[in-house]
Amino acid sequence: MKILITGSYGQLGRSLLESFKIYNFEIIQTGRNISIREDGIRLDIQDSINIKAILDLHTPDIIINLAAMTNVDMCEKQPFLAKEVNIGGVINICDNFKGKILHLSTDYVFDGKNGPYTETDKVAPVSIYGQTKLAAEQIIMNHNPDNLIIRGNVLYDYTLYTKASFLNWVLDSLKNNRTIRVVDDQFNNPTWTKSMADIICLCVKNDISGIYHWGDADFVSRYEFAQIIAKKYDFDNSLINPVSTNELSQIAPRPLKSGLISDKIINILDVIPPSIEDCLSGISKKIE
Ligand SMILES: NC(=O)c1ccc[n+]([C@@H]2O[C@H](COP(=O)([O-])OP(=O)(O)OC[C@H]3O[C@@H](n4cnc5c(N)ncnc54)[C@H](OP(=O)(O)O)[C@@H]3O)[C@@H](O)[C@H]2O)c1
Repeated sequence: MKILITGSYGQLGRSLLESFKIYNFEIIQTGRNISIREDGIRLDIQDSINIKAILDLHTPDIIINLAAMTNVDMCEKQPFLAKEVNIGGVINICDNFKGKILHLSTDYVFDGKNGPYTETDKVAPVSIYGQTKLAAEQIIMNHNPDNLIIRGNVLYDYTLYTKASFLNWVLDSLKNNRTIRVVDDQFNNPTWTKSMADIICLCVKNDISGIYHWGDADFVSRYEFAQIIAKKYDFDNSLINPVSTNELSQIAPRPLKSGLISDKIINILDVIPPSIEDCLSGISKKIE
């Protein structure tokens, strides 16, 4: 089976490539910006002609769409661009592809008043990012009910290749003795990209369709998560100061009490979400 991945040079894409190594699939790696040291196919999902040409040439059976404008505040500042990438890009893929699409979405489709959430809870995004990701979900599922949406939240790894990882920001700040202010009233279940990538592989292998949540085991505030990181890697945790979302004045509104309940996929795939502690142990080698 041939699988084409968009946005495959981001943090989740890199974990996904690692996880796919134990499977016998042919992977076609694409990205908008590919460094000269790396192989791959340039594919901007905003460019419908480019998508058609690449799909005609490589004829994948499945597309895994990871490409997205993931900076939540940037989406709020540039709503037109956010819609072009996160909605327009998905329309371009659907217009040019008849096979199965696996699409990554987010707990930001919820308003954060009463999380953590199951797949049947009411969606009500409070930010442009959340609105664009929800619109994309609806396009994907209307296009073909066999498609698959996996919602994730606070994906992290320690990698040079992204600005989307909370772990990178915390560790790089603490290593450089920089004080950080971290919100203590935004709750989620942070998820290692390897944990999400392994689930994506199992979903492909088992041909799962529909909408599913996947999040790791521990529900914590961002502040608690930063404290766990500092303790695990032996950094000075007094550099981490709690702050409320109101005080921080982030550009985009955030769902506060959010996070994802993964029971639906746990029951189907017979999997167990890992703890933060186990995930950070797995990442340790990359930090030294
Ligand atoms: N990070 C999280 O906490 C989180 C949580 C839930 C869901 N998700 C979803 O998971 C997916 C992967 O996110 P991630 O954490 O791996 O983020 P990431 O590191 O920011 O990766 C996103 C990738 O998409 C690429 N991209 C952006 N615009 C594109 C375009 N027009 N055409 C092709 N590629 C484009 C980016 O490439 P450039 O190098 O060109 O920017 C980047 O490589 C996204 O759909 C995101 O919405 C993420």
